[in-house]
Amino acid sequence: MTNKYLYFVANWKMYGDLKTLNSLDKIIKFSKIIKQKRFKLIYCPPSTLIRPLSKRLKKTKIEVGAQNAHESENYGAFTGQINSKMLKNVGARYVILGHSENRQLGEDNKKINLKIKSALKAGLKIIYCIGETLKEKRNKKTNQVLSSQIKIGLKTIRNKSNIIIAYEPVWSIGTGLIPKTNDLIKSILFIKNKLGKKPSKILYGGSVNGDNIKKLKKINIIDGFLVGGASQDPKKFIDIIKKTIN
Ligand code: PGA
Repeated sequence: MTNKYLYFVANWKMYGDLKTLNSLDKIIKFSKIIKQKRFKLIYCPPSTLIRPLSKRLKKTKIEVGAQNAHESENYGAFTGQINSKMLKNVGARYVILGHSENRQLGEDNKKINLKIKSALKAGLKIIYCIGETLKEKRNKKTNQVLSSQIKIGLKTIRNKSNIIIAYEPVWSIGTGLIPKTNDLIKSILFIKNKLGKKPSKILYGGSVNGDNIKKLKKINIIDGFLVGGASQDPKKFIDIIKKTIN
């Protein structure tokens, strides 16, 4: 995996406060000494930490992303919501959209499509999460699910150069389970095929850790990893990065 651009995206979910940011000193130091030049390190903290984190990371190669955004391009009467324009304004360069934890709260592909378009307009890069549930997998619906997530989620978006796909089987998120290598290759190839001639970067996400990374890194059609739980501990996250690039 070492000859191409590798992505390591940290999804902090609803964890972290101002004090947590101190733990990033280790990763900042690491990012400066890392020999592999072709890597992208992106931290997606809760929205409350985007501003302080982006300030802290100013002189580093590490970029900041958000974990979701409202679909409206404009400001409006949406209590509790934040749109992409606002996220960009406080330092986000990326936004995770379509994460299964938000799909479970009722987001569907149509809504995610609006979110993606709005975020692109605001100038953010997208990390678009797709993946099947365990039930869908058991019913052999994986391809069908991925297909509609791509078709509807990316509808009318012709230029996909600012969209990164994160394939995250729902049943692998936070469970310690990862797909069998063959199944993972099949899904990634299926996604690539659906995306057409200019395929986006495709990351894998779901229980990535210091042990299974050795197996995952061998799949050279993967462009990097979206890491949840293990990214909250800088030591564990550095371990994953080191094992991938070495
Ligand atoms: P996990 O989360 O690494 O804790 O499984 C991944 C994600 O939800 O993006």
